[in-house]
Amino acid sequence: MIAPHAVQQVKEAARVEEVVGEFVALKRKGPRYLGLCPFHNEKTPSFNVTPNLGIYKCFGCGEAGDSITFLTKHEHLSYVEAIKWLAKRYNIELPEEEQTPEQQLEQSERESIAVVQQWALNWSVEHLWTTDEGKRIALSYFHERGFSDATIKTFQLGYVPEQGNAFATAAIAKGFNADILEKAGWIKRREDGTPWDFFAGRVTFPIQGLSGQPIGFGARTLKSDKKLPKYFNSPESILYNKSRSLYGIFHAKRSIVEQELCYLVEGYTDVISLHQAGITNVVASSGTSLTEEQVRLIKRYAPTVCILYDGDAAGMKASLRGIDLVLKEGLNVKVVTFPEGEDPDSYAKGHSSSEVTEYLNSTAKDFLVFKAELLMAESGNDPVKKAAAIHEIVESVALVPDLVLRSLYLQQCSRLLEVNEQALISEMNKVLRKQFRKKLGGDDIPEERLADRIASPQPTVEDLGTTPQERDLLRMLLMYGHERVMVKFEDEEGNTEEEESSVAELMFELLAMDDILFDEPIFREIYMDYRHTANLGIPVDAAHYVGHEQETWRNTTIDLLSEKHVLSANWKERHKIHVKRESETLKDALEEAVDILKERRVDRMIRERQANLNATDELNMIALMQEIIALTDTKKKLAKKTGRVVVG
Ligand code: GTP
Ligand code: MN
Repeated sequence: MIAPHAVQQVKEAARVEEVVGEFVALKRKGPRYLGLCPFHNEKTPSFNVTPNLGIYKCFGCGEAGDSITFLTKHEHLSYVEAIKWLAKRYNIELPEEEQTPEQQLEQSERESIAVVQQWALNWSVEHLWTTDEGKRIALSYFHERGFSDATIKTFQLGYVPEQGNAFATAAIAKGFNADILEKAGWIKRREDGTPWDFFAGRVTFPIQGLSGQPIGFGARTLKSDKKLPKYFNSPESILYNKSRSLYGIFHAKRSIVEQELCYLVEGYTDVISLHQAGITNVVASSGTSLTEEQVRLIKRYAPTVCILYDGDAAGMKASLRGIDLVLKEGLNVKVVTFPEGEDPDSYAKGHSSSEVTEYLNSTAKDFLVFKAELLMAESGNDPVKKAAAIHEIVESVALVPDLVLRSLYLQQCSRLLEVNEQALISEMNKVLRKQFRKKLGGDDIPEERLADRIASPQPTVEDLGTTPQERDLLRMLLMYGHERVMVKFEDEEGNTEEEESSVAELMFELLAMDDILFDEPIFREIYMDYRHTANLGIPVDAAHYVGHEQETWRNTTIDLLSEKHVLSANWKERHKIHVKRESETLKDALEEAVDILKERRVDRMIRERQANLNATDELNMIALMQEIIALTDTKKKLAKKTGRVVVG
């Protein structure tokens, strides 16, 4: 957590035109700056930056915000990361965060390793370009592979001499501690303690973190000896977590966002060659199979991942299971295969950039189609194998979270597999039902009991609307939006911390957590306008709306402000909520109001689904039932907090 006064200092120092200007070419136009919007594709500039308001806004796509919003959206930084970025940019020292001795130790180890990696990177790059051995053996090797000097520099490729301890000697002379060098993966020690270079005689591929800092290395031997491992990789360290990093992500992230697509390849050289061919939205999972964290990382940037396979059928088949993981995360998955014996790297070498692009575009296939084709080709005319294949495909389809997409896939697969679609649907229902039962805890719940749980008696509350709750919330926002409250939250380590927040910010957050907007159109308009304005850092309060040019807004506001109680006793009474003592704080009131709104919304969602249950086919019914159960759980949790009794 960064101290509020430091955050303030950073915010004040940040000049929006400078921050945005680091990423977007801006031209001055009177009091404003104009450029091409980085958030959507455009040929004529409609992206405006207004320094005296500290904001940017695109009149094409509507993206708007301040320096911090810009960094969070454009660079995908978290709020804290954005503050740190700005602090660095403006040379503002952020006060040291208070740490336990353990954290301090970790922190200093992380920093030491980071320093080693950066120093080692510079050292290896220098040895590639300036030493005789480097130029003769390593640089010429890269050139032979077709890497241009610019590419070699972009990816900061380097070289470690063959001699055996050149690096260790230099690093220790520089004052680095041998333990840290070992943890960073650069040296190993013999029994007598003498160090040797782990990467000796290898070219190096630095693996960068999201903001470009080197966190680990891959190193390829230049010998053709088949007994030597071709690549060595840095061990994991407190800085380098293999399952959470993707090779090339720093160079790729911008273009992944632009293209809304991420290519995934197997090797370092595939990334580099494609990049050189102009395909820059490409990353590799460097030798390991794809992990959940990597999939989530990709998902932060793009909705679709396209996996490029070397032409090796066995390898492809082995990785099919792994891809189910990607489906489960709701990413669209496509697949491109290369001709036998080619990988993306070799293909890019033998073809022009436009040929490569054309190849990728024309051969990309939906993963499930790809899987179906592969398995069907394999099972040939064997009916048992064919049945197994169908089952396996259906299991994958069942993982896709999106209902519509799922039924599209079933249609497609039915054509490919030459199986009646209805047969696929009932096969999938079996799979879903099994998952569903597992969730309920046990494999043997009879069908009727499931039905019991779903068809609960119709609730008796007449009014499904949430207008009174919305009224209370909007009134709180207008009257107390600027009040400061202390909010408790859990940090990553599970410690409870307190942070100051305004009532408005807290409300935005509580509602945004569940994507809740107001139903009542005028309330919704005012709320959105308030939130938008406040997010831009422009002061806004009730007076703004009392004097607003729009009559309906004016009247609504005046109406709201003239009511006596913030929390209408009316609905508290109606829901038999025990009214707490006078000392009830604003924050409690807000949280409670939001919870009650949520509870009613959940109620409504449950009832909508119950109403749909009868009028739907079996496939949707299972999905609806799953949703109802999940919603009922949510409702019970909310009810516990608000003190309402939920029957059934
Ligand atoms: P080149 O032969 O230089 O073209 O490498 P490549 O990128 O084509 O490598 P390959 O397809 O053989 O392997 C793909 C990826 O697997 C590499 O980029 C490495 O990350 C990893 N890998 C390959 N060989 C080894 C090895 O011997 N040890 C380890 N740990 N990883 C390897
Ligand atoms: Mn290769």
